[in-house]
Amino acid sequence: MPDALVASDATRVFPLELDRRYPVVVRGDGAWVEDSSGKRYLDAMSGGSMAATLGHGRREIIAAAAAQAGRLSYVHNERLTNPQREQLAAELVELAPPGMTRVRFTTGGAESNEMAIQMARSYHVERGDTSRWQVISPAQAYHGPTMATLGLTGRPGLQSPFGPYIPRHRHIPPSTWRFDLTGQAALAALDSVLEEVGPENVSAYFCEPITAAALPAYSPPDRFWKGLAERRDRHGFLICYDEVVTGIGRAGHWFAAEKLPLVPDIIATAKRSPTARGGSRSATRGTALRSRARSGSKSSRCCGTKV
Ligand SMILES: Cc1ncc(COP(=O)(O)O)c(C=O)c1O
Repeated sequence: MPDALVASDATRVFPLELDRRYPVVVRGDGAWVEDSSGKRYLDAMSGGSMAATLGHGRREIIAAAAAQAGRLSYVHNERLTNPQREQLAAELVELAPPGMTRVRFTTGGAESNEMAIQMARSYHVERGDTSRWQVISPAQAYHGPTMATLGLTGRPGLQSPFGPYIPRHRHIPPSTWRFDLTGQAALAALDSVLEEVGPENVSAYFCEPITAAALPAYSPPDRFWKGLAERRDRHGFLICYDEVVTGIGRAGHWFAAEKLPLVPDIIATAKRSPTARGGSRSATRGTALRSRARSGSKSSRCCGTKV
C-alpha cells in the first residue's frame, strides 16, 4: 500500500508546490474521495477544480463511457465526426441562449477560452476587419493558466514570471457592490480604454457573467450589461462569456447568460459539460458556442476547421 501522503522528494511527479505533501487518493464515491490509508475526504470542491460536479463513481456515466470506448476510442476533431458528437452539439445548442447556433469541442476551460479568442479574431479577419485583435476584460478575472488566457487577467501575480510571453490585452477595474454599485465607473473605464486603444482595434470584451473564484458570485448590475451591449453595437467588437464555472446548470439555469439583459456572441464552457452522453474522447469537456459571430463570416476558420 503506498503512503497516504507523498512528499516531492519521494515522487517522480513534478508537483505544483514542492514543499507540500500530497494526499494519494485511490477511489471516490459520490461527494467523497478516499486515500490509500482509507481516510475519507469530503470533495467539497468537486475534484479541486470544480470539474467533478456529477460526483465520483456514477454507474450510468461509467457505463456510457465504457460502451463508447468499446465502439470507438478516438475521433479526430478536425477531419471526422460521429453521431454522439453531433447529438451533443445539437443538445447544447438547444440548451444555450437564443441565437447560439454551433458548438466547437475542446478539452477544457482554458482551451475553450482560447478558442473563443480565436473565433472572435477569425470573425473580424474574415470580414476584412484585420486590425481587431485586442481583448478587454475585468482586471481581477481568472480565465485559465495558458499564455493566451493569462493575458485575459490583469493580475500580475498570476502572470509572473511569464510576462514576456503574454499578449498585451487591456483590463478595466471590477465594478463591485462596494465601489461601483451602478456599474457606471466600469463603463467609464471601458470607454477610456476603447478610446485609448482605438475601438477599431478591439476584437472582444471577455468576462464571466457571474464571477467565480476571482470575485465570488458577483455579477455587475443590469446597467453595466446594457451599457456594454450599446458599446458593442456602436463599436463592432464581440462579447465572449466565460461560462466554464457558471454553465451547464450551475447557476440554477443552463447558462448564466440566460438571466442577463445581454446575449453574448460566444460562450465558452467546460468542466461540467455532459460527457456522459456517450461523447467520444475527442469531444470531452470544453465547448465554445457561437452565435452572431457567424452572420458576417463566409467561412470562418478556427484552427483549420470551418465552423
Ligand atoms: C472562470 C474560469 N475560467 C476558466 C478556467 C480554466 O478551466 P480549466 O481548468 O478547465 O482549463 C477556470 C478554472 O477554474 C475558471 O474558474
